[in-house]
Amino acid sequence: MRPIQAPFPATRLRRARQSPAIRALVAQSALGPGDLIWPLFVRDGEGVEEPVPSMPGVLRRSVDRVVEAAREAAALGIPAICLFPYTDAQNRTSDCAEAWNPDNLSNRATRAVKAAVPGIAVMTDVALDPYSDTGHDGFVVDGEIVNDETVAALVKQALAQAEAGVDIIGPSDMMDGRIGAIRAALEAAGHRNVCLMSYAAKYASAFYGPFRDAVGAAGALRGDKKTYQMDPANSDEALRCVARDLSEGADMVMVKPGMPYLDICRRVKDTFGAPTFAYQVSGEYAMIMAAAQAGWIDGERAMMESLIAFKRAGCDGILSYFAPDAARLLG
Ligand code: PBG
Repeated sequence: MRPIQAPFPATRLRRARQSPAIRALVAQSALGPGDLIWPLFVRDGEGVEEPVPSMPGVLRRSVDRVVEAAREAAALGIPAICLFPYTDAQNRTSDCAEAWNPDNLSNRATRAVKAAVPGIAVMTDVALDPYSDTGHDGFVVDGEIVNDETVAALVKQALAQAEAGVDIIGPSDMMDGRIGAIRAALEAAGHRNVCLMSYAAKYASAFYGPFRDAVGAAGALRGDKKTYQMDPANSDEALRCVARDLSEGADMVMVKPGMPYLDICRRVKDTFGAPTFAYQVSGEYAMIMAAAQAGWIDGERAMMESLIAFKRAGCDGILSYFAPDAARLLG
């Protein structure tokens, strides 16, 4: 049989790409400032803004400057910030007691932001690594990161954060059972409206390197986190983590890192339909910034392309160090 010769291509897919107006009409995903959570590093002092060497453009800020950043975020339409404390050696102990100190850096920053910019949602991290002399997210006993003892400490840390007024608690520790334990403790203490965003599918990743510099954990960390964070080879296990955390009372779930794990984002969204977030982590930020500074890629375009990819993969929102820059461009 002779092939049928059409006088024109039967389907001209390029018609829908011909102009900015037509492209805008057919665009399937959209990115807005409302999709972004801006992670901020908090340090001691006043009037301090200190660059993080491995993250060009990212600062460690004293509490007063964090409040300024929160104001900026609100003005840009960014709905939430996420606080990470930079702790020096003297606040790192084997009992990690600073984690549940009501006046620790993270809790002081939360109170200051909620007092000055009440409309912005404050998220905080639950894990022991900023306060531990080992740099691990849990207690270490005879070389093992012990689960249940750690969960008891995480509950105390989460309660102190709720008392300080956070809107969203983000357990990033990957211990088993911590979502249920934190949820039960929050209910018992009357904190019914505090959201839990579980770092549910968090992989043991090289892309966290610059973050560990930023929070001062790089020097402290001995060994790796592979006995509690996930193996990058696995995908089904991520679904089991998410199912478990949702059943224990998580309101939102996160996949982390982001760009190398877009397949996980899509599977999580399709399977559960729960609010799904990705964390575009420090190493992803550093890679784009480094290539842009070398003149090897267009940094702005790479940033926007990376962010829309998360929306296309099914994410409802993204934690990203690019949040203010992206929001300014979207503005
Ligand atoms: C700590 C924590 C980490 C990140 C967020 N919370 C690092 C780690 O697990 O070692 C990484 C964030 C980033 O790389 O931007 N529990």
